[in-house]
Amino acid sequence: MAFLDKHAILEKNASLLMVGSLLVVSIGGIVEIAPLFYLENTIEKVEGVRPYTPLELTGRDIYIREGCYVCHSQMIRPMRDEVERYGHYSLAAESMYDHPFQWGSKRTGPDLARVGGRYSDEWHVDHLTDPQSVVPESVMPKYGFLSNRLIEPTYIEDLLSTHRMVGVPYSSEMIEAAKADFVAQADPNSDYDGLQERYPGAKVSNYDGQPGVTEMDALVAYLQVLGTMVDFSTFTPDASR
Ligand code: HEC
Repeated sequence: MAFLDKHAILEKNASLLMVGSLLVVSIGGIVEIAPLFYLENTIEKVEGVRPYTPLELTGRDIYIREGCYVCHSQMIRPMRDEVERYGHYSLAAESMYDHPFQWGSKRTGPDLARVGGRYSDEWHVDHLTDPQSVVPESVMPKYGFLSNRLIEPTYIEDLLSTHRMVGVPYSSEMIEAAKADFVAQADPNSDYDGLQERYPGAKVSNYDGQPGVTEMDALVAYLQVLGTMVDFSTFTPDASR
């Protein structure tokens, strides 16, 4: 017990006890804080992940405004049941341009991380307008009013600039073209070559089938890109290379 008795020296000397406590707390602190300096390295760059187009980004804002995240997560965990139901587990890189991220914490409805391309645009419009017409037992609210709300890209440059400020690599060219890209993505008869050059793989469609750009167009454009940026037929995680 001679070694444990030495504890008495610390306990009887306030200054020594302070120095000792400080030492212990610093070690704990370093262990917690040091890895954060290397956080950059833990986010593997993945081919195909690109910033959202102006229309998708607007749809994302509507998704947040309407509180879709209250019932839907966007994070597929690497567990067998989830991967079998929803597809490849979510990669950190897939939400690297999400500010704030939409992982969510509750699933009243299914996970939406890979809903893009799973249904047609018409299906989404029908479902959002009247979920019970497609899934009779659904408890999802109706969002048909989105089709009646035309939107102008009045503040779209500001929206892109704000995202650039927090680290999304929007170039000055992308910001200059934002208004044109916004309109072009919802109109298959437009000249959308520039849009697709700036945002490879961007889907162009008149999502809601009506003239003009509505909130429905923007929201469906956003839903249709979710989880589609990475080509999983060619993707191998760094860890298994
Ligand atoms: C009150 C909870 C609730 C809210 C809020 C909600 N949903 Fe849902 N959602 C559900 C439920 C439950 C389902 C499953 C039944 C169905 O398909 O309607 C669902 C299904 C879906 C599906 C089909 C997913 C799939 O893989 O089949 C999509 C897409 C969807 N919701 C999008 C949205 C969007 C976009 C919003 C916001 C505008 C939203 N939801 C708001 C509950 C909700």
